[in-house]
Amino acid sequence: MSETPNLHNSDLRNSDANQQWGGRFAAGPSVVMQEINASIGFDRKMWRQDIRGSLAHAAMLTKLGILTLQDETDIKTGLAAIAADIDAGRFAFDETLEDIHMNIEARLTERIGDAGRRLHTGRSRNDQVATDFRLWVRDAIDGLDAQIADVMRAMAERAATFADAVMPGFTHLQTAQPVTFGHHLLAYVEMLARDRGRLADCRKRLNECPLGSAALAGTSFPLDREMTARELGFDRPTANSLDAVSDRDFALEFLSAAAISAMHLSRLAEEIVIWCSAPYRFIRLSDAFTTGSSIMPQKRNPDAAELVRAKTGRINGALVGLLTVMKGLPLAYAKDMQEDKEPAFDAADAWALSLAAIAGMVRDMTPDTTRMREFAGSGFATATDLADWLVRVLKQPFRSAHHTTGRLVAMAEARGVDLSDLTLAEMQSVEPGITEEIFGVLTVEASVASRRSYGGTAPTNVAAQAARWLKALG
Ligand code: ARG
Repeated sequence: MSETPNLHNSDLRNSDANQQWGGRFAAGPSVVMQEINASIGFDRKMWRQDIRGSLAHAAMLTKLGILTLQDETDIKTGLAAIAADIDAGRFAFDETLEDIHMNIEARLTERIGDAGRRLHTGRSRNDQVATDFRLWVRDAIDGLDAQIADVMRAMAERAATFADAVMPGFTHLQTAQPVTFGHHLLAYVEMLARDRGRLADCRKRLNECPLGSAALAGTSFPLDREMTARELGFDRPTANSLDAVSDRDFALEFLSAAAISAMHLSRLAEEIVIWCSAPYRFIRLSDAFTTGSSIMPQKRNPDAAELVRAKTGRINGALVGLLTVMKGLPLAYAKDMQEDKEPAFDAADAWALSLAAIAGMVRDMTPDTTRMREFAGSGFATATDLADWLVRVLKQPFRSAHHTTGRLVAMAEARGVDLSDLTLAEMQSVEPGITEEIFGVLTVEASVASRRSYGGTAPTNVAAQAARWLKALG
């Protein structure tokens, strides 16, 4: 189309040339160009953040006298109407307008005319998108942080209830020493607390405002960047305009935190799968968190746990994907960076859903404490307690005690019995100093009760730690 587009036409949707830069362009983009260029299909998710940013920018321009009070009123009214339309699903998103920023600005101009056209003074989509995306990630961080706290609370509550429920503790997935179920759950609470720490850390560094960096070099307008930063809840404006429009570290840090947290959740999910399996039966999930099989009537499958385990894949993919997009990009903005949002959105959704599923399963599961206790004692789980007794009472060096105990384990194994089933005479044939007292340390209850070292599995420790967490979590 060769006709010169009219820059003052408020509805340029029907013009072939783009309304934002149509002055320079005579013809419109090819279909493929439009399709590969458009981000509206996904960045519409940031509409609230875009409107928040525009309101702050407009207020600041008004304070500087660049916009009149009437302009600001019109912008506020127009953006409120647009927000209501989007919220109600009435807003017609237009792919020819590429992204959320231009969709909202075009609609605003259609509604209010020139004030809408003045809004973009002293800003570019480059600082606008960087600001919107930071706001979006910050909102996501706040939501996820609350969800992680909820999972921690659910686990600490159950840990308090099962502070003294003995279960086998594993290394190499081989029975190692008895622990309590509460202790096991609190291990995950510690991991999740670190996940929250990483989010808080990411939020701190993220919390600088790019708005006013404009396209890449800053702007000739004497903007009050402190004001917009404050208005949007940022700690300060970013200090280098080139960095501000080309930095996506905040998204990468968010995705790194997501990947580590998803790894934690997948470990718990895997344990839930194992604990639910028929040979273990340590826990039971209700109908609410299991599915049946269309062919095998007896099945209760822990699909939610399996899917949490699997979501780790897409979250790791998001991190590696964005690292790869950013690698080697020259300063400042490049369109490559438009590929930052989908991985972050997808990972945030997957993370949130995983946390909800884990919280649900932790509250839903019924531990079979009888069965856990039964297995806690199998596999000579109290052998270390026997060795410790030889050190404590007979003053044997630990290495010698380890050797003596190894011989007793071999004897019990040969007879097909547990350590506590050996007679005193049999034990004394290996170590004459052993007395009746030894039977007091061979039970799983005595074993866990004795592990009172700070951070150890003794039920008194576990109850105290669970109470500490519940208090901290409020
Ligand atoms: N949709 C774009 C993005 O997400 C907005 C910024 C476009 N800037 C530009 N100079 N083309 O990155």
